[in-house]
Amino acid sequence: MKVLVARSGDEYFACQAVCPHQDVALCEGLFDGTVLTCHQHLWQWDIRSGAPRGLAEAPLECYTVEVDGDSIYIASPGALYVGELFSGIAEKTLAEINALARREEFTQGGTLYNVGDPAEDFFVLESGRVEFLIGRDDRTSPAGFMLRKGEVFGWAALLDSQPSRIAKATCLEHSTLLRINGREALKVLESDPASGYVVMRRLSSLIARYLASSGAR
Ligand code: FES
Repeated sequence: MKVLVARSGDEYFACQAVCPHQDVALCEGLFDGTVLTCHQHLWQWDIRSGAPRGLAEAPLECYTVEVDGDSIYIASPGALYVGELFSGIAEKTLAEINALARREEFTQGGTLYNVGDPAEDFFVLESGRVEFLIGRDDRTSPAGFMLRKGEVFGWAALLDSQPSRIAKATCLEHSTLLRINGREALKVLESDPASGYVVMRRLSSLIARYLASSGAR
């Protein structure tokens, strides 16, 4: 998914990168610091809210932006619907977990975590490919399972019994992921036991699949 990020004063705002009228890149339009104008038919929007101005007949979809030092994180509402771990849980609970998600991009060869690192966050793969290696140094071997788009990994962050990583995760190509803090997600699930039960059942299936694939090596 492409996103347009604009700076207005000291703040950053993010919205859809393509005009809602036709397939035109909004980065080629005009921006006066508040109002974004598509150069094709001059639809305009307030970048702070996505609200239409003047001729525009549809709003822009906007995303929450979080700035942390030199990094800008953009949250995409509904992104976790693609994660099999959370499908079908209560909307309010999903929205609260979504609010915890930060989107990150990694270049090919980028390491998400190493064996022994603290297991604090789990991830949803939005695009790209991630490889898992077990063992250390030059005695590593593939962990034996592949990820599909939308799949959750790093789920040790959701387990009290597994405080550190047991595999190394590396991006095989440019990849986009959602990072979610496990402890914060568990707090949300504890406030909605019905959804928490669903997620924990699915998590146990994921672990069983992992054990089966590891045993098959
Ligand atoms: S394509 Fe953007 S206003 Fe028509």
